[in-house]
Amino acid sequence: MLRRTFLVYVLLTSFLVAPFSAANTVSGSNGVVSSRSQIASDVGVEILKQGGNAVDAAVAVGFALAVTYPSAGNIGGGGFMVIRLDDGTVVTQDHREKAPGSAFPDMFLDDAGNVDRRKSLYSAQAAGVPGSVAGLLDALEKYGTMTRQQVIAPAIKLAEEGFPLNEDLAGDFERVMNSMRDYPASMAVFSNNGQAWQVGDIWVQKDLAETLKRISAEGRDGFYKGKTAELLANEMIRLEGMITLEDLANYQPVWRDPIKGSYRGYDIWSMPPPSSGGALVVQMLNMLEAYDVKSMGWGSAEVIHLMVEAQRRAYADRAEHMGDPDFYPVPLAMLTDKEYAKTRFLDFNPEQASRSEDIGAGSWPLESLETTHFSVMDKNGVSVAVTTTLNLGYGNRIVVPGAGFLLNNEMDDFSAKPNEPNAYGLLGDEANKIEPGKRMLSSMTPTIVTRDGQPVLVTGSPGGSTIINTVFQVILNVLDHEMSIEDAVASPRIHHQWQPDMVRIEPGALLEGAEEKLTSMGHRELAPMGYGLGDANSILLRDGVMHGSSDPRSVGGASAF
Ligand code: DON
Repeated sequence: MLRRTFLVYVLLTSFLVAPFSAANTVSGSNGVVSSRSQIASDVGVEILKQGGNAVDAAVAVGFALAVTYPSAGNIGGGGFMVIRLDDGTVVTQDHREKAPGSAFPDMFLDDAGNVDRRKSLYSAQAAGVPGSVAGLLDALEKYGTMTRQQVIAPAIKLAEEGFPLNEDLAGDFERVMNSMRDYPASMAVFSNNGQAWQVGDIWVQKDLAETLKRISAEGRDGFYKGKTAELLANEMIRLEGMITLEDLANYQPVWRDPIKGSYRGYDIWSMPPPSSGGALVVQMLNMLEAYDVKSMGWGSAEVIHLMVEAQRRAYADRAEHMGDPDFYPVPLAMLTDKEYAKTRFLDFNPEQASRSEDIGAGSWPLESLETTHFSVMDKNGVSVAVTTTLNLGYGNRIVVPGAGFLLNNEMDDFSAKPNEPNAYGLLGDEANKIEPGKRMLSSMTPTIVTRDGQPVLVTGSPGGSTIINTVFQVILNVLDHEMSIEDAVASPRIHHQWQPDMVRIEPGALLEGAEEKLTSMGHRELAPMGYGLGDANSILLRDGVMHGSSDPRSVGGASAF
């Protein structure tokens, strides 16, 4: 019933609010890929058809997204990967960007000691040392079955021969173009000789194709050494950025022990620090486990109140305790412990909202945000969840001249100043201050849910600080509310992040009467928003069939066979 009501709601409102296209849900018993780009999902399924496993497909999708979804798909950024192998083992790989060797804590403060947000977001200094290429290739070597050349070939072809621009990309390029006028190499890619690209134009990226060919031929050295590295380092010198040839040559991805939690008999596997996502999702699920979420009912004031109070406490802990574990002792065991969650939730009052008393004022995102998540599952249950990003859409807007790829602005994810909100309004302190070679704290939460060792759900999302809550709600929708993957992904969501003390609500996320009830409980600000909480391209294995759904909030695509 929910589904019908919800779809009717979407039909009625989709003309009024920001983009909400038809859900794209597919099913298959051999393999499924769900991503923000139909072309990239098709690349992944093609690799599966050729006999590759889910890791081969994920690596191919990762490189393809760098061509077909350039605002977030990338080789100049970084991300995280969670893999369930066919023997049931789960591993995670961190290919997050790192601060360059010459970075220092106050590097984004101006003379008056204020954070210069322009510098932390839109300058060459905003870029961290990219990790995606090293990460994807390392995953392929360890757990893939195909050659580098095989999995990068589709991306090279897409860059070299081009593909027709759809409305989504042409419109996006036109919007971002003006912010790139200082960078001729960026304009050369994202405009057609200074004019906007049009729908149907064939978009060719020759420089990017050459960079991808070098990676295909030489492996990580095709990016971190030689011509590509020199082009990047030279641009850094020209624009007074910090990344050096040495920073590039030294970059290594790290395999980390997954965060492992449980919820009502399911196992939750997710990303450990330097992402805060896995720990927070597990902490929030631990807080909810004692409550009968299912019978409270999806969208009821009782459930929303419960979720918000869990979110408030978990995000407060994030600000206090989380940063790169190689630099700061993150109390991970505590944060993910069921007893800790019970204690932390002792002051939960089912009738009354608590207050996020302030440590500095939060703010909401400055502009539309982009990162991207994709999920892959193959017939042997090998499952891959990857979230990857340049941070804000199109990163720092700087395309490396001659190399054809955008650089990230991930340095803004550090706390540039104690308790000063970053682009997502997230606060932080000592744990996440800038230090050379350190990884900035993330919210990216690629997650795999299993039961008795078998895969159940592969999920994750973009959305900066909202990512963790999107993943949290997709999990609740599947495990507690027993939704199909289409409904679990499409259902409207809510978001609270401790500071600012405000619940953001997508249209339709509250059942009738819930808003009044939440207000009477003392929730100070209920702020409606258009659709846009996340883009959770996910896969659910139910009764032996894989169902993939790309989030209807954007124009993605799932593929299956
Ligand atoms: O790592 C993080 O948490 C952020 N850099 C992610 C950025 C993001 O999700 C933007 N997207 N919508």
